Amino acid sequence: MEIISKIFLENKAWAADKSNMDKEYFYKLSLIQEPDFLWIGCSDSRVPANEITNTEPGEMFVHRNIANVVDLNDINLMSVMQYAVEYLKIKHIIVCGHYGCGGIKAAMSKDSFGKMDIWLSKIKEVYSQNVSSFDGLETEEARLKKMVELNVIAGVKKIQSSELIQSNPEIVVHGWVYDLLDGILHRIAGGTT
Ligand code: CO
Repeated sequence: MEIISKIFLENKAWAADKSNMDKEYFYKLSLIQEPDFLWIGCSDSRVPANEITNTEPGEMFVHRNIANVVDLNDINLMSVMQYAVEYLKIKHIIVCGHYGCGGIKAAMSKDSFGKMDIWLSKIKEVYSQNVSSFDGLETEEARLKKMVELNVIAGVKKIQSSELIQSNPEIVVHGWVYDLLDGILHRIAGGTT
């Protein structure tokens, strides 16, 4: 239990730090949630949305799944999107993939991963629709990077085509890729601002 006890200790220290800096910090956060962004990212522990964007609690509404898959039949993601758009009135949707994504690597392999295969089939679909994009890519690394980017582009296109965004065209959809090696975000698709 040592590792769990540490989490509770760290939580107390964090809450004390925040309160010391601003006595009203938690009270103000409790009153209202007004994030400008919906973040759709990978569950990978190395890509924490708030941390890599230097944002605070309250600034970003977050949904994460293996390999940041966007599937318009995914009731979980669709509920998050609807809530973010209609109730939180977010202005930007960010689909963020990352180089070195294990989910993408698994989807690109011929191995079987049990139940996860159903999830990964959404990535395999994107691959099948873009086979010619891989022409001339010699190394596995280059192919995986390309797949990470294509998965983000496909996600952005799906969101843009969704009924929800079609009826809320003021929302800007962005496609980004995060590089684990240097911590930098890159624009790949979608919005320019
Ligand atoms: Co990943």
